[in-house]
Amino acid sequence: MPQSTNFALHFNMQTFKEQIDNAKLPKHIAIIMDGNGRWAQQRGEDRLFGHYEGVKSVRNMVEACGEIGIEYLTLYAFSTENWNRPEVEVEGLMELLVNTIRKEIDDLHKNGVRLHVIGDIASLPASAQKELAEAREITKNNKGLNLVMALSYSGRWEIINAIQNIMKDVKSGKINSEMMDVSIFESYLNTSHIPDPELLIRTGGDNRISNFLLFQIAYAELYFTETHWPEFRKENLYQAILEFQNRERRFGKTSDQIQAKA
Ligand code: FPP
Repeated sequence: MPQSTNFALHFNMQTFKEQIDNAKLPKHIAIIMDGNGRWAQQRGEDRLFGHYEGVKSVRNMVEACGEIGIEYLTLYAFSTENWNRPEVEVEGLMELLVNTIRKEIDDLHKNGVRLHVIGDIASLPASAQKELAEAREITKNNKGLNLVMALSYSGRWEIINAIQNIMKDVKSGKINSEMMDVSIFESYLNTSHIPDPELLIRTGGDNRISNFLLFQIAYAELYFTETHWPEFRKENLYQAILEFQNRERRFGKTSDQIQAKA
């Protein structure tokens, strides 16, 4: 249990979890899991050590989302730009991906988690593609948390990929330019069956989007925290959800219009 929770319980204060309004949960939370490398280096360890420790935070988040009933959790695990990292780190991350899925799949399945993958899957090593395909097949009928892993993913890659497929369909006469609108465009994205994230969290202290879900985050609430990913735990997530619930989401309308509807 995190120290803050102990403190809260000792002084009979409400934990962040207890303050959450279950009727106003974000349906979809997306996370940019940043700070693994710096966290490890600050401890005199190799960057890969940070990624191994980061897996513990992934497990913790999946549990937390399951406990409070979040429907979708998307994790930015590897970007198209991450291929440019030193070979040893890229290989280490791919190995970690395969081993983690292999190790965790039974538990995920038992807990009703359904695994999805977005990104340029064909660019991943064959072993990773195989492990992911099996995990998706095993969990495809599960009705609990939808865990979306963004792997070899970037928002620009996804949008260009969508445009290429749209152009093919225009050429074959399946669609025409007059039909194009937001929902048709969305149907060409990797996330076509996934609602837009309402809350986007980035750990590790940087305040940027780094090519993540560029189309889908149009109205997401952004939450940046200094906490490095290996130290991000359930109460940190609950704190972010509480902040989300205390924000006024206007979607271009005025505050008065929103208040009148409430
Ligand atoms: C960003 O931290 C993190 C990554 C590029 C990898 C995230 C991967 C995990 C948390 C492991 C779990 C994932 C799988 C696929 C099982 P960074 O290395 O950019 O940190 P830095 O900004 O401190 O250098």
